[in-house]
Amino acid sequence: MIFSMDDPRNLVDGYKTMSDEFIREDLRRRSFPYAVLMQNFEKDFNIGTLIRNSNAFGARDIFYLSSSKHIDRRGAVGSYKYKSVNYLRTLNDVAALKQIYTFVAVEQTDKSVPLHQFSWPRDKQILLIFGEESCGVLKEILDICDYFVEVSQYGSIRSLNVGTCSGIVMNDLVQKAYAK
Ligand SMILES: C[S@@+](CC[C@H](N)C(=O)[O-])C[C@H]1O[C@@H](n2cnc3c(N)ncnc32)[C@H](O)[C@@H]1O
Repeated sequence: MIFSMDDPRNLVDGYKTMSDEFIREDLRRRSFPYAVLMQNFEKDFNIGTLIRNSNAFGARDIFYLSSSKHIDRRGAVGSYKYKSVNYLRTLNDVAALKQIYTFVAVEQTDKSVPLHQFSWPRDKQILLIFGEESCGVLKEILDICDYFVEVSQYGSIRSLNVGTCSGIVMNDLVQKAYAK
């Protein structure tokens, strides 16, 4: 298939004439050494925002802990075409990722460090772990996390929307640790 500069796909100009397969491979080659995990048993639309933010901020891999593979794509604006989502079903699946990643819980806990003061660890690849709207990150997952970060807030509502929060945190990680 030949793509032209009038390509209706929502792409930066440099990718407009490229195939989806080329874009997928090029994004992977240019990605940063971190992954994101969203716990989303509620299967709400926030996973779409997480996928879009992962695309924007160069996450290498996406993990989705849920009871079904269904992904609500609203909010992803086609970004799901360029990154496969790795589906996890159980807490054992999550724990197995410790062999590869340092676990960073993005959650409001007693031990969380404010994001703007946090120095990102460099020993292993980082896995950013996000919880869900109703209950946050499961306790069983928090128990195996290495670091805890939170976004400082100044309003009256206790927490941010998790999709919004994911963009703030990925941007901080990329700017402090990887971007030149
Ligand atoms: C809506 S919050 C869950 C809130 C929780 N049910 C409560 O009200 O205590 C959903 C997810 O967004 C992320 N989140 C939202 N606001 C945050 C903040 N200020 N700092 C760190 N993570 C936050 C966390 O990953 C959290 O699990």
